[in-house]
Amino acid sequence: MNSKAKLPAGSRCLVTGAAGFIGSHLSRRLLNDGCRVTGVDCFTDYYDPAIKEANIEGLSKHPDFELIEADLSDIEDHWFQGVNWVFHQAAQAGVRASWGKEFAHYTGHNVLATQRLLEWARHNNLERFVYASSSSVYGNTGKLPMHEEDLPRPLSPYGVTKLAAEHLCGLYAQNFGVPTVSLRYFTVYGPAQRPDMAFHRFIRSILNGKALVIYGNGEQTRDFTFIDDIVEANILAAVKTTPGGRVYNLGGGSRISVNGVLELLKELSGRAVEVRYEPVQAGDPPHTYADTSRAREELGFVPQTSLKEGLGLMLDFFKQPGC
Ligand code: UGA
Repeated sequence: MNSKAKLPAGSRCLVTGAAGFIGSHLSRRLLNDGCRVTGVDCFTDYYDPAIKEANIEGLSKHPDFELIEADLSDIEDHWFQGVNWVFHQAAQAGVRASWGKEFAHYTGHNVLATQRLLEWARHNNLERFVYASSSSVYGNTGKLPMHEEDLPRPLSPYGVTKLAAEHLCGLYAQNFGVPTVSLRYFTVYGPAQRPDMAFHRFIRSILNGKALVIYGNGEQTRDFTFIDDIVEANILAAVKTTPGGRVYNLGGGSRISVNGVLELLKELSGRAVEVRYEPVQAGDPPHTYADTSRAREELGFVPQTSLKEGLGLMLDFFKQPGC
């Protein structure tokens, strides 16, 4: 994966969730590659919408970027005319927050919105429909690494909705030929990471000299994946011809415990770290670890960024004025 994948110049792309962490990075890359990007986002208040405004500030000034502020559940036929490639990144994120009455946001933004977009896609002649799925579809498989053929058994309501939407992508591929591909992201990190996620919270606490919180004993592991590798994988999935409905794991190859991450952060920041331990959170799987052989063989996906390098880039980002 040394030479970067590219869509044909002038390609018309739709990025849903364009103001989010992953959607904004992907939109920037597509514009840099000479594509025209329609971004859609409904600026929910799961976290401060000002963060999303900041994510797209630069994009909005680009002549080939158009933003539609809307909820995908309200999609109308005339939206997104001329679009050939869809990158469906929009979702109600957050594993631990998906219990209780909040679940309605998860079914609405993850399941219903995806179904509406697939209905639209069914009547439009797309080159590719890339769906951002999640490692949280696996749950506690009891077997590592996790393979695409393992039976998914999500542990969180969030994971249930991501899996339901992935199944919808499969159904629309089988029944109507929508060229879907689902990418199971494993805990994505990097500059502009969402503020509810571990690395963002850890780095902010360290730089502010505050105690950070670890859920459980910190021995849970994640196969953390750097944002640029995820962006590259989206483009690879768009340009490669693979059967409709295919599913791929995207892990960074940087599986490590949360305690291990803290050691790296101490080393990189040169600061002391105060830790407060809190109970394991419902919905959190003990471990994730991606078998990425399918993505490597069929898409040419090879993650390029080590955890140490990626964390260093994140720390630099947080040290910028205004962060
Ligand atoms: C992340 C994303 O939030 C999901 O949207 C995504 O779908 C998922 O990755 C995925 O890979 O499927 P998560 O793995 O929980 O979910 O990511 P983090 O919030 O970065 O948490 C990583 C680990 O750190 C978890 O074990 C969590 O319990 C722990 N953590 C998190 C803490 O110990 N303290 C914190 O303050 C935050």
